[in-house]
Amino acid sequence: MGRLDNKTAIVTGGAMGQGAEIARAYVAEGARVVIADVAKEQGQSLADELGGAAHFAHHDVSDAGSWASVVDDANARFGPVDVLANNAGILRFGDIERMPAEEVELLWRVNQLGCFLGMQAVTRTMRKNGGGSIINASSVEGLAGMPSCTAYAATKWAIRGMTKCAAMELGPKGIRVNSVHPGMIDTPMTRVHGGDAAMEYGASKVPLRRVGTPGDIAPVYVFLASDESSYINGAEIAVDGGVTSTHAFGA
Ligand SMILES: NC(=O)c1ccc[n+]([C@@H]2O[C@H](COP(=O)([O-])OP(=O)(O)OC[C@H]3O[C@@H](n4cnc5c(N)ncnc54)[C@H](O)[C@@H]3O)[C@@H](O)[C@H]2O)c1
Repeated sequence: MGRLDNKTAIVTGGAMGQGAEIARAYVAEGARVVIADVAKEQGQSLADELGGAAHFAHHDVSDAGSWASVVDDANARFGPVDVLANNAGILRFGDIERMPAEEVELLWRVNQLGCFLGMQAVTRTMRKNGGGSIINASSVEGLAGMPSCTAYAATKWAIRGMTKCAAMELGPKGIRVNSVHPGMIDTPMTRVHGGDAAMEYGASKVPLRRVGTPGDIAPVYVFLASDESSYINGAEIAVDGGVTSTHAFGA
């Protein structure tokens, strides 16, 4: 018996990093998964690895027009969508004085608008099906501040806020909405910003003295997708090795 038997899930940003591990964990627990991502090669190769329980859909989360076809495809292929792991995201650092407006807007489109459109797209099918679970990827940057991270953090605080509003609005329809707040996780997103040296520096700042792995994150997504979390709604769950436990003077 899997913890997600008979559930259909969409995992955005499922081709790489945390999303790929979430997709693997969902299939291992008995779910059928649509991996929705802009990265065709990696997404298709993961779907091939996972077999008949997985399908890759080329999908840009910031494109309002393509959300309906992803949800329709998932419904037709695997049955009504029960779970949305709204995980896709991009990271750009930039000082306030220098960051181009286009980069700020791109972050907003993918991270914030993409998350909103995802919730909007699955609501009807979840409501008709009697409920569901939406898991939004925020960040420790949605819980606290970091220099040169204003534009990214804005989207992650927005996701935290949208999660609360959506939990209030969709709760009466049986749809739970929660946010996950990863700390520094070793994925392609963070690797490009300094490789091993960045990981070592990051680890030195964490009470557990290591950065996280996608394997630390995926079980939380499994729990929030499963009926084990049936009374958890509007929660924000930090998976950060304790890094947001400090007021910084203690670091
Ligand atoms: N890695 C970290 O340290 C960290 C920390 C906190 C929060 N997060 C958040 O966790 C989520 C997953 O991050 P990750 O570390 O796995 O990143 P990653 O870069 O390793 O993977 C992100 C995935 O999202 C996909 N993607 C990017 N833009 C997309 C779009 N417009 N439409 C669909 N898919 C798109 C990418 O192709 C990739 O497969 C993101 O929302 C990120 O902001 C990451």
